[in-house]
Amino acid sequence: MRGSFLSRRAVQRLRQLAIYTLGSVKIKLLLSCIIALTVIALLSGSGFMGWNNHSAALDQLPVPRKGYAIVMNTWKRYDLLKESISHYSLCRWLESIHIVWSEPNPPSDSLKKFLNHIVESNSRGGRRVELKFDINKEDSLNNRFKEIKDLNADAVFSIDDDVIFPCSAVDFAFNVWQSAPDTMVGFVPRVHWVDRSKGGNDYYVYGGWWSVWWTGTYSMVLSKAAFFHKKYFGLYTSEMPASIREFITKNRNCEDIAMSFLVANATGAPPIWVKGSIFEIGSTGISSLGGHSERRTQCVNRFVAEYSRMPLVSTSVKAVDSRNIWFW
Ligand SMILES: *[C@@H]1O[C@H](CO)[C@@H](O)[C@H](O)[C@H]1NC(C)=O
Repeated sequence: MRGSFLSRRAVQRLRQLAIYTLGSVKIKLLLSCIIALTVIALLSGSGFMGWNNHSAALDQLPVPRKGYAIVMNTWKRYDLLKESISHYSLCRWLESIHIVWSEPNPPSDSLKKFLNHIVESNSRGGRRVELKFDINKEDSLNNRFKEIKDLNADAVFSIDDDVIFPCSAVDFAFNVWQSAPDTMVGFVPRVHWVDRSKGGNDYYVYGGWWSVWWTGTYSMVLSKAAFFHKKYFGLYTSEMPASIREFITKNRNCEDIAMSFLVANATGAPPIWVKGSIFEIGSTGISSLGGHSERRTQCVNRFVAEYSRMPLVSTSVKAVDSRNIWFW
């Protein structure tokens, strides 16, 4: 009798104790959650702004053995050229800038002087960025993929003069490329698919941004903003069938699709799409005009005929910087 009374009291006290400690555990948990969320919010606050976020959080990316080279395609838009060179010359790990020049007149002395001055004043901390003009006699879209002599870097960041990505996004994309140096790594995905309504032979359709958004898959990244290995310049200029290059010069379109075909044929693998916010500083080019996607579709089918197969591989993988994500 007594024993059971005692034990009942003991059980009661134990239960009280348990409720008390449970309560304090809950409060502690809640407190730690609040503290953790505050810390996360403070840490990633700088990530939200993105634009000038070169420093703090990004210092954790490993220092590469070699940097990368920017190959920038430009056409008679000197203000855009100045703006993007001013921006990109601030990015760490940039070794050299090559401006692909296809205008009939060579760059003016004042433009060269201006750009050299910007690049020099943006080269800091023992880092020297080299600036070069690659002057072309012929005006062809193939110029942007010509081989560059004496290129120290293996990685090329191919970019149009009217798109700007924050250095943090470029650094991250470069980091992704280092994990897969044979692959094209870029910010602007596009997709293709088979149109079975066109009868027996495989007929392919080129899909723009909305198709990628709708399906969540892609099979190309455009060379207006992509990293790839410099060896593909040589393959593009010397190994790829000349008829493809001639088609591109004549139609003034699709050099980016041709590069996607070339890399996919060489690797048998899809490209990698990297998340990054884009800032278009120029008016949007031909892609906003009507009939654009029909012409791109023609290119895809033409190139499939040249390769006698469809080399592009689709994927739904997207690379994101996990430091900018709250919950994972
Ligand atoms: C495509 O890849 C095959 C096999 O690697 C190669 O033999 C061929 O030359 C490539 N085609 C082009 C156009 O590069």
